[in-house]
Amino acid sequence: MDRPLEFHRRHAAGRAATNAEMIEELFVGGGWLGRVASGKTFEVTNPANGATIAVLPDGGREEMQTAVDAAAAAQPEWAERTAADRAAIMRSAAHLMHERKEHLARVMTLEQGKPITESRGEIVYAASFVEWFAEEGKRVYGETIPASFPDKRILVIKRPVGVTAAITPWNFPAAMITRKLGPALAAGCAMVIKPARLTPLSALEMAAIFEQAGLPKGLLSVVVGTDTSGITSFIMEDERVRKLSFTGSTEVGKLLMKQAADTMKRLSLELGGHAPFIVFDDADMEAALEGALASKMRNMGQTCVCANRIFVQRDVAEEFAERLAEKMSAMKVGDGLEEGVTVGPLVEPKAVEKVEHHVQDALEKGAKLVVGGERLNANYGTENFYAPTVLADADETMLVAKEETFGPVAAIMPFDNEDEVIERANDTVYGLAAYYFTRDVGRVVRLMEKLEYGTIGANDGMPSTAQAPFGGLKESGFGREGGHQGLEEYLDTKYVSLGGVAR
Ligand code: SIN
Repeated sequence: MDRPLEFHRRHAAGRAATNAEMIEELFVGGGWLGRVASGKTFEVTNPANGATIAVLPDGGREEMQTAVDAAAAAQPEWAERTAADRAAIMRSAAHLMHERKEHLARVMTLEQGKPITESRGEIVYAASFVEWFAEEGKRVYGETIPASFPDKRILVIKRPVGVTAAITPWNFPAAMITRKLGPALAAGCAMVIKPARLTPLSALEMAAIFEQAGLPKGLLSVVVGTDTSGITSFIMEDERVRKLSFTGSTEVGKLLMKQAADTMKRLSLELGGHAPFIVFDDADMEAALEGALASKMRNMGQTCVCANRIFVQRDVAEEFAERLAEKMSAMKVGDGLEEGVTVGPLVEPKAVEKVEHHVQDALEKGAKLVVGGERLNANYGTENFYAPTVLADADETMLVAKEETFGPVAAIMPFDNEDEVIERANDTVYGLAAYYFTRDVGRVVRLMEKLEYGTIGANDGMPSTAQAPFGGLKESGFGREGGHQGLEEYLDTKYVSLGGVAR
């Protein structure tokens, strides 16, 4: 399928913006590719009903080679532009995202399953990274340092790291792209992206938007394919790729870290989480419940920052469980495209199996089922729906307290005092996000200092935002996304010792 560029412009800007048509080509080296070297294709399906929504060329190492060649050729010119020039293109891209929000949200819900209101929210969130980094790119300041000799000066300058790569997850098909691409472009880098195989369509929509916004050819490629290890090993082996940003599991993150050693690539790794959500008995209970609901049920519990262990002080634990169960059972389950639905399908059958296993294990070990606890297949199109579930009296012997459940299950674990809950909350290899609710100001400060987590919501269930440095500690990874720290990830620091200054 060899189609001229004009087709894609029309496709992305016109027809696709108003109906269900999908982009079914990869974006490689500044051009659209309807056929890949292997000649293979793969299907993208809707988790709500199992229908095939697109058939894409199955990209591999060859396409990644073209992408990296083009990125390496295009990046120097981009780096020489002024930050204001780069910002203008980025602002146009953000503007197009807002303009096409309905279409982009629809594509996202079709391929990922999240409720349409959440998809709309994600498009705005995705655009916010592009908007914010467009401006922050204008503030890449250097330094001068007093030298040790009268005839010398010391200058510190920042330069783009060059060609970068991103491997992005299926749970935020647009925002996890722009959170990486935004700072990369603002810093003067090129980026090749390998999006998750389950949700490539939103990534291709992002490519169409940046193309239409006027991004120079070659600076951005989106290579999707089922040969994850082939594509990834190409990225890891190519010495021109100077940095990789990865969002995904800790297991894969560790592997990538080992592979990065050979070419000494810089890394940002946003890995697994196992977030504690702590409710003290002095908390504003309604705010804590709303926070728990938002954190737990966002994307049906499929985010790395979802509350996974809900610690509630013993004297309010029963009331909290009952009131959370009321809120969870009032949620509307169904196809995310239907307005009013607040709980869509999980992304694939494997995800539901894990949730079932965790709930079964907890019940066998003594947890009490307050609400939910079952698949809801009978009434829906696929095996992928699971009822919003609350478990009371959970404890550390259970899988729900040991691993990310990545599903709509709130496991409530009673605790007695502050020191105990801090110790239990920190008793994990993960350190991505933590939440707590209390009205005691001293306790707010003590917990922010003692909880071993990189992202903390104090009386806040939804802390993420473009201007703040999101990221983890311990085995949840390193590197920050968002904030000026997020831009630093794409910049090298050089220092120049300038001699011969004295007359
Ligand atoms: C994630 O779960 O990986 C990101 C969530 C966020 O940006 O809030």
